[in-house]
Amino acid sequence: MALPLLVDCDTGIDDAIALTYLACRDDAEVAGIVSTGGNVPAATVHRNNLALSELLGVDAPVALGADRPLVEPPMFADDTHGAGGLGHAVLPEATRAEDPRSGAQLWVDLARERPGELVGLVLGPHTNLALALEIEPELPRLLRRLHVMGGAINHRGNTGATSEWNIAVDPEAAQRVLAAFASAPQLPVLGALQATEQIVFTGAELERLEALAARSAHPVARILAEAVRFYFEFHQADGFGWTAHVHDPLVTAHALTGEFASTRPLPVDVELAGTLTRGQTVGDELGRWGRGPTVELLDEVRPAEFVEHLLGTLEAGLG
Ligand code: RIB
Ligand code: CA
Repeated sequence: MALPLLVDCDTGIDDAIALTYLACRDDAEVAGIVSTGGNVPAATVHRNNLALSELLGVDAPVALGADRPLVEPPMFADDTHGAGGLGHAVLPEATRAEDPRSGAQLWVDLARERPGELVGLVLGPHTNLALALEIEPELPRLLRRLHVMGGAINHRGNTGATSEWNIAVDPEAAQRVLAAFASAPQLPVLGALQATEQIVFTGAELERLEALAARSAHPVARILAEAVRFYFEFHQADGFGWTAHVHDPLVTAHALTGEFASTRPLPVDVELAGTLTRGQTVGDELGRWGRGPTVELLDEVRPAEFVEHLLGTLEAGLG
């Protein structure tokens, strides 16, 4: 029985790799996709999600989310993902239809239709999940589990000095999601930067993607190679050398398989008022707050094993 997942993403290069990974897996069912503004505006994310899902044969509803965060003014990461969100890749216009519902409504409807079955996977800002919680406060109990790529716990940020992108774009939404899911039967699994930055593509992985694109007739193979090459150019310009941090696929594969990392319970909350630290995900390692854990934090990552699993899955699925 394939695991049904709702993927809420800001596609984006690593989001696209994660979506492709799921499409290549027989044990995964992409039950729905929500287009959330983040790396690029929501409308651009939506165009990418419609085109990619069509090329991948993912026949799931794709719904457009809100066009701005709850409070924070919109910000985008054109430098990291390119103005179109997928670097140098050129995607055809989708011929498939979008779902007419809002992203928030799609969260609610799919969770209600499949109580206890649907896994939520948030790979971008939490805007639309927070809006969905306003429609249906029972979401934490309707979903089977929630997995999130986001945050940096006692680890430098990648957006502000202490904030990670998905949380920094919409800190109010992230804070509301963590508060609501603290009472879920299973705590959300949080893949924060200290875990996901261990997943580093080197030139060898880029060459594997280029070789796959050269031999494959699947259009997404070329799209990923072109997107990831742009991602390398950004990381090189940003001082990380000819590499790329690939965040979303680790959280995605762990959500599907439970492999490649362990988890540990931790109380985590989001700083909203800090002048220097707004958007920081704070982990109460010492138990000073007197509150129970709010997340299962990805820990003890096995990077080499995961990277081989990811590239092997893409090569088998797109080859
Ligand atoms: O900080 C990394 C996260 O921000 C990833 O999900 C990436 O796609 C961007 O959304
Ligand atoms: Ca993302």
